[in-house]
Amino acid sequence: MQGKLVRLRAYEKSDADALFRWFSDEEVTRWLGPPAFRSRAHQEKFIELAQASSDDAKYFAIETLDGKLVGDCGLRFIDWKSRKAEFFITIGEKQFWGKGLGTDALRTVIRLAFDKMNLNRLWLTVLVDNPRAVRCYEKCGFVREGLMRQESYVDGKYRDVLLMALLREDYDRTRGA
Ligand SMILES: CC(C)(COP(=O)(O)OP(=O)(O)OC[C@H]1O[C@@H](n2cnc3c(N)ncnc32)[C@H](O)[C@@H]1OP(=O)(O)O)[C@@H](O)C(=O)NCCC(=O)NCCS
Repeated sequence: MQGKLVRLRAYEKSDADALFRWFSDEEVTRWLGPPAFRSRAHQEKFIELAQASSDDAKYFAIETLDGKLVGDCGLRFIDWKSRKAEFFITIGEKQFWGKGLGTDALRTVIRLAFDKMNLNRLWLTVLVDNPRAVRCYEKCGFVREGLMRQESYVDGKYRDVLLMALLREDYDRTRGA
C-alpha cells in the first residue's frame, strides 16, 4: 500500500538489523513506554510472526518511496465482532522524524482499516507528553477520549497516557462520504 511519501510493505528477514537498532535506541523507545529490551533473536521471531498471516494483527514495514526502510506500524487486537483495532507506529530512523512520514503512514493504514477491512473504530494510546505523536494523530482525525493517569513508568516517572480514537463516521465525514 502506498501513500504520498511512504509505502507499507510486508516484513523481510533482512529487516531484523534495523528493528534491533531502533528498539535498542533509548531516544526512540522512551516514547513507547517502559523499555522492553528486545534481542536480535526476538526481532527475527517477530518478523516470522509478522509474515505469518494472522486475523488479529497486521504488521507493516514503512519505507520511503525510494525504498529506505524507516519504521514499523500496524494494527493489533483486531476485534472482528466490534470491528475495532489498535494502531501502533514507530519511525525508527530518527533523522526522518517530523517530515510527514508518520502522518502519511497513518493515513494509509486508516484507508486500509476503513475501506478494505471494514473496521469501525481505530484506537491508540500515547504518552501525553509525546507532542509530536499526539499532533500526528490529531492531524489524522483522532480525538482524545480519555486520560489514564500515571499509566506508564518511563525514565523514572509515572506518566499520563492518552486514549485516542477515530471512528468510521468521523472518517466518512472528513472525506465527504
Ligand atoms: C510519532 C511519530 C510516528 C510521528 O511521525 P513523524 O513523521 O515524526 O510526524 P509528522 O511529521 O507526520 O507530524 C508531526 C507533527 O508534530 C509536530 N510536532 C513536532 N514536534 C512537536 C512538538 N514538540 N510540539 C508540538 N508539535 C510538534 C510537527 O510540526 C508535525 O505537525 P505539522 O505537520 O502540523 O507541522 C514519529 O515521530 C515516531 O515514531 N516517534 C518515535 C516513536 C513514537 O513516538 N511513536 C508513537 C508512540 S504512541
